[in-house]
Amino acid sequence: MLPQEGRRWRHIEDRLRQILSGHGYEEVHLPIMEFTELFSRGVGESTDIVEKEMYSLADRDGESITLRPEGTAGCVRALLQHGLLYNQTQRVFYAGPMFRYERPQKGRYRQFYQLGAEAFGLAGPDVDAELILMGLQFWRSLGIETRVRLEINTLGSSAARAAYRRALVAFLTPHAAELDKDSQRRLQSNPLRILDSKAEKTRQLLIDAPQLPDHIDPAGRAHFAALCGLLDELEVAYSVNPKLVRGLDYYTHTVFEWKTDALGAQDTICAGGRYDGLVELLGGRPTPAAGFALGLERVMLLYEKMHHDEEFASAADIYCCALDVGYQARVMALAQKLRDELPGLRIRTHAGGGKLKNQMRRADASGARVVLLIGEDEASSDTASVKYLREDRAQETLATDQVTDVLKGYFS
Ligand code: HAM
Repeated sequence: MLPQEGRRWRHIEDRLRQILSGHGYEEVHLPIMEFTELFSRGVGESTDIVEKEMYSLADRDGESITLRPEGTAGCVRALLQHGLLYNQTQRVFYAGPMFRYERPQKGRYRQFYQLGAEAFGLAGPDVDAELILMGLQFWRSLGIETRVRLEINTLGSSAARAAYRRALVAFLTPHAAELDKDSQRRLQSNPLRILDSKAEKTRQLLIDAPQLPDHIDPAGRAHFAALCGLLDELEVAYSVNPKLVRGLDYYTHTVFEWKTDALGAQDTICAGGRYDGLVELLGGRPTPAAGFALGLERVMLLYEKMHHDEEFASAADIYCCALDVGYQARVMALAQKLRDELPGLRIRTHAGGGKLKNQMRRADASGARVVLLIGEDEASSDTASVKYLREDRAQETLATDQVTDVLKGYFS
């Protein structure tokens, strides 16, 4: 990521982090590598991620380790290992790179950056709604909410999901030959994913297949109805997509995806749901849990599409020049004073000397709005000249101790 993108990235990530901490979520830093077994157990042996997308290698002891393809399993592992899930609730978030061996294209990368939030020990639909509302806050704070829509679904309890899986396999098996290749493979390993298939023939077959909503247990239905009720009351727009099943095995009950129509095929910018069985599966006591992760590259693509911002075009706000090497120390001291007194501003000092014309060219290229100059006259009168590069405003000469106040006013 190059500087201009980096500036935009920082802006977006700062906003999202502010919203997460504003909801009382605390940051955890998790390892980038984990034992492979964590993902095969946690994410699921027969998921695409584990079957064909992990970067795994044997370390020097022959132990298989994997670059994390996602953050939830590692987060559960860490909190369990440190006793933070026993008899208590936790709300945490993490940010960092994830790795999947996928076919790269716009919005889909082999290294991508997720910001994820997880809530533990809370079984009710209220926390599902909180996670969804946080997403909505994200999009609003970035001004992209008009191009993002929410899809939700429920998978019911793990028992309900297993019963549905059996019913679906029983229905599809006699038609196996008519399914597309991927779906044939999934029929044994991960039949629910067949619901996602884009192949026309498979979609036709699915019309008469058993429907997931008919298999949801009463408690699962009640949970989902309560969530929908909360979202309605909070006036959060959503659509129920009964085919939304997600590609990771740990989900139970609520699942959701934030989608956009602005990015082509890679249209999910954020996704998550409830995973009440995962803590137990990884060796803890039964603990309800829910969370989501967003793909920051995708969020940024959408942001760029919707904002033609100049804000990130510049590398500096103020550019400081010495007209002769003899005044360099004076310029550096003034720049430092300004950095101390105006901490939000980016202040670059010219390095490498040279003629005024060349220094001004560099100042212009940096995108700075103001140039501070110190030459012989300024040095002898303890002043600095101030030039405004982007406005029709006359150059002025200010006493050194006035510079802060004038620039503070100018940049506010
Ligand atoms: P996921 O749906 O696999 O869920 O990924 C979440 C988000 O990460 C996606 O919606 C997408 O924005 C982004 N993403 C995934 N793969 C790529 C890629 N190859 N390139 C760019 N972006 C990508 C999870 O990872 C779950 N751990 C989410 C979760 C947290 N569920 C509960 N808690």
